[in-house]
Amino acid sequence: MENKNKLKRTHTCGELREKDLGKNVVLYGWAESIRLHGGMVFVNLFDRYGTTQLVFSREAIGSKFDEIKSITPHTTLCVSGLVRNRPEEAINKEMPTGSIEVDVEDYVINNIAKPLPIPIGKGIPVYDDVKLKWMPIYLRERKAQQNLILRSKVFNIIMQYFHEHDFIYVETPILAKPTPEGARDFLVPSRIHNGKFYALPQSPQQYKQKLMIAGLDKYYQIAKCFRDEDLRADRQPEFTQLDIEMSWPEPEDIFEIIEGMFKRLFKEIIGIDLKTPFRRMNYEEAMELYGTDKPDLRNPLKISDVSKAFEKTEFSIFKDALKEKGVINAIKVSNNAERFTRKYIDSLATHSKSIKGSGIIVLKIKENNAAEGSIAKHLSEEEISELIKLTNASSNDILLLSAGKKSIVKKTLGSVRLKLGTDLNLVDKDRFELLWITEFPLFEFSETEHRWVYEHHPFTSPEEEYMPILMKLNSLDELKEILPEMLPSDIKSKAYDIVINGWEIGGGSIRIHKRELQEKIFELLGLSREEYLEKFGSLLELLEYGAPPHGGIALGLDRIAAILAKEESIREVIAFPKNKEAQCLMDDSPSEVSQEQLKELGISIINNQNKSK
Ligand code: AMO
Repeated sequence: MENKNKLKRTHTCGELREKDLGKNVVLYGWAESIRLHGGMVFVNLFDRYGTTQLVFSREAIGSKFDEIKSITPHTTLCVSGLVRNRPEEAINKEMPTGSIEVDVEDYVINNIAKPLPIPIGKGIPVYDDVKLKWMPIYLRERKAQQNLILRSKVFNIIMQYFHEHDFIYVETPILAKPTPEGARDFLVPSRIHNGKFYALPQSPQQYKQKLMIAGLDKYYQIAKCFRDEDLRADRQPEFTQLDIEMSWPEPEDIFEIIEGMFKRLFKEIIGIDLKTPFRRMNYEEAMELYGTDKPDLRNPLKISDVSKAFEKTEFSIFKDALKEKGVINAIKVSNNAERFTRKYIDSLATHSKSIKGSGIIVLKIKENNAAEGSIAKHLSEEEISELIKLTNASSNDILLLSAGKKSIVKKTLGSVRLKLGTDLNLVDKDRFELLWITEFPLFEFSETEHRWVYEHHPFTSPEEEYMPILMKLNSLDELKEILPEMLPSDIKSKAYDIVINGWEIGGGSIRIHKRELQEKIFELLGLSREEYLEKFGSLLELLEYGAPPHGGIALGLDRIAAILAKEESIREVIAFPKNKEAQCLMDDSPSEVSQEQLKELGISIINNQNKSK
């Protein structure tokens, strides 16, 4: 078999079974393990489909026997031979091909491998940075390959599903004008127009709206998006969205199409029947009960408002909180009292501090409406009994209380709830909880910018009932003059998110389709006329040429793939991910460029922080 091209692969390494006994086969693959045993060489040959045991004997391959003895793991081979039964004692039930082996008659070594830089197939954990540097080698790991195969299946099912539902796949530009989605842009300098920049799209938001104006009616795209933001397990600087837009939709139309897609994905990928329609929960309820707009409903703990129990309290922390128009909230934990040791309670306080949260007070409920804990002596019997009533607590339950500004208390207990879920093992990892969060506020107050900003993006439509008020305002500050009891965050929008097991999987909205309202929203967000015309002039103009009502959604495909693959980080389902510092360690990007390139672009680096390091 000197010329391997004459021999075509007949089977993959995962394919052969007893039905193939006696066949002459040709396999290609990598040597997983090489063992010398009883005068023969046993090689497990693997490819992405599986592993097959090869047997090399001196009788069959003659002088080439010495060569095969010396190959290294991950050497690439091409072999031809006969499929035969394994002796009874050598049958391996763990291996799908474990009842057969291939008696090699000839082979070609394609490439002898050097010792691998990272262990593969041995279950030895590898440091993330080392793994990211050696990604192509790491991707030989069975689970890593399965994740990419799963991701590819997800893409195929999605494409088929939307094609069946009459959606048109349209690719939109990557070199684009900035579209705000709340992150910094990645900029691309223009050589032809020195001093000008494209932005890589944070999402195809404005393009898809323009496609509706174009009359495409139903659009979808698997779109690369780019956001320069702090990275986490569920965030990459470049990621993939399933982007969708429809004309004349109600939110329910969008929910229905997305639910159908998830139903199919879960069934075909992991064999799970999802019940539709998914649960709907409005934003207010999510924040109230879970302290977050992406609640993990596998966690049974809930937050309750117990302010009422302390209306007349003399306990200063609670008294002050209520005086400042704050709240006192509680989480009840049952069946775990023994876990609340001094040390664990301290760890909750440390956790709260790390997220700049409010203090946590722990009370243990005793028989006869009594409570035990550092503050118990400051509370009256009536207060404890009302607290027990409001939380429905019984003897041996633990109550975690927090008092202060509502938003901080909710954030704190929301985060503590997640920590308790993990620490006390309250979350069933095999369950999937999908839900829609609806009725998001149109504006939220940014503590960092000290001003009102959009909650979703500035193209999101307010709920109908708020439009007359909004059109009357010249600034959001004027709201308190017209309606003193109302805050900008009370104005509801037609935005929605989909959440799975505490991950925000997607978000969308019904859009503004009239220029007048869109200009008003820009104005209320504090943009001058010049600014919004410069940034969004093209969309504003087009809204005047018969823009239909439209709306859509974008789903994080990396997150969907990670959830289906039961991975904690989206990096496990991305072929060449970036590290936490947004670097690709494999090819060492971002990297410096030559002076000539910079000169052509009209760019000079004024403060190269990397060089001074
Ligand atoms: P949004 O900004 O909510 O909406 O993004 C949609 C979904 O994309 C995923 N996602 C990310 N995934 C990985 N890494 C990131 N850095 C990252 N950022 C976002 C999330 C998120 O829910 N144009 C709007 C959609 C619309 O209104 O139709 C948008 O992009 O799963």
